[in-house]
Amino acid sequence: MFKSTNLDQFVFPWKEDNYRYSNDLKKLNEDESRYFIEITPEYEMQIKEKRRLLDEQPEVRYQSMPHTMDMQWELVELILEQATERYPQHFTVKKDGANWTFTNHILHEEEKFVFGDASSIRMEPLDLIGRHFHNDFILMVHRDNDLFLEVGQVSFAALFSANWNKGMSFEEIHGPVPFVTRTGVPLVERVLKFLLSLEPGKPWTRVNWNLMADRYDVNYETMHIWEPQRERVTVENAGELVHLRVEEQKFYRLPRANAILFSLNTMFLPLEDLKLRPEWLIRTYNNLSDIPPEMAAYKGIDVFLNQSVEYLKHEVEKLQVTQGK
Ligand code: HEM
Repeated sequence: MFKSTNLDQFVFPWKEDNYRYSNDLKKLNEDESRYFIEITPEYEMQIKEKRRLLDEQPEVRYQSMPHTMDMQWELVELILEQATERYPQHFTVKKDGANWTFTNHILHEEEKFVFGDASSIRMEPLDLIGRHFHNDFILMVHRDNDLFLEVGQVSFAALFSANWNKGMSFEEIHGPVPFVTRTGVPLVERVLKFLLSLEPGKPWTRVNWNLMADRYDVNYETMHIWEPQRERVTVENAGELVHLRVEEQKFYRLPRANAILFSLNTMFLPLEDLKLRPEWLIRTYNNLSDIPPEMAAYKGIDVFLNQSVEYLKHEVEKLQVTQGK
């Protein structure tokens, strides 16, 4: 599996030693709000894997409603604007009226299309341009005082797929989540109300985490494969097989589409690499030692959580010995 090698880019998920669900959205500051696209040292591996997953099960990982072409073009424009502004050495767009040429200088690839004309390209606009960036992209369309999932390109999913979730409302999507606060207050309605009030140009972010047993994605369609794979985790191999999976989520209002873009930057760190940042090792141990059973079962980690915690406990003990504690 590829893993995050630049730890300065890895978004460590916990600020405290004990995790519970909350309305943990944060406003992005002006600088941060300009980008949901990021290039990492693993870029080429990420893209190779993303494309492999999309090609392996195209109908599971990419889905759209037929009326979403205009919103897809709006998103393509935003992605390309951000990519060329942030990484002009890697990405360029030449525009001759509606004739656009997008060049990816890392992969030495070129995409030519007539902007706004889906017949000028071999795939749907988001499916094509999304394959140049490792993020997953979802559009939640705002209507009837609710949000509905109408477009999705989702490769590195945790309990998620474009196919499974297409057409669902925000509340339906979050139905399986035991989404309550520390004191048992339900969160779905509150979070939806907040997202409906999101304004263009003022994006928000949050971080989600999970553990993966030697996999990039788990979705309901491939449950028969990953469920038995989780049984392979032991205290001895947990450091290598189990990865801390972090999603940096960003939420942008697309003004023309009146939709919320849900963009995910998914990172993977094998538990053994937590040693590189001892404070992360200790904090991960503390958090994982204290996951309520219903949360562990929902996240699909209950089968290998104990082995992972035991592995981390040994590592924390070794660290304390070297630190003379
Ligand atoms: C509009 C954009 C959003 C979409 C499309 C979305 C989608 C999803 C999906 C598909 C899942 C997995 C559900 C399943 O197990 O079947 C999920 C889980 C979850 N979502 Fe969202 N979500 C969105 C926004 C939010 C926001 C704004 C919050 C919190 C403030 C949130 C909190 C959560 C939590 C806590 C989980 C459980 C994750 C875990 O424990 O690993 N979501 N979401």
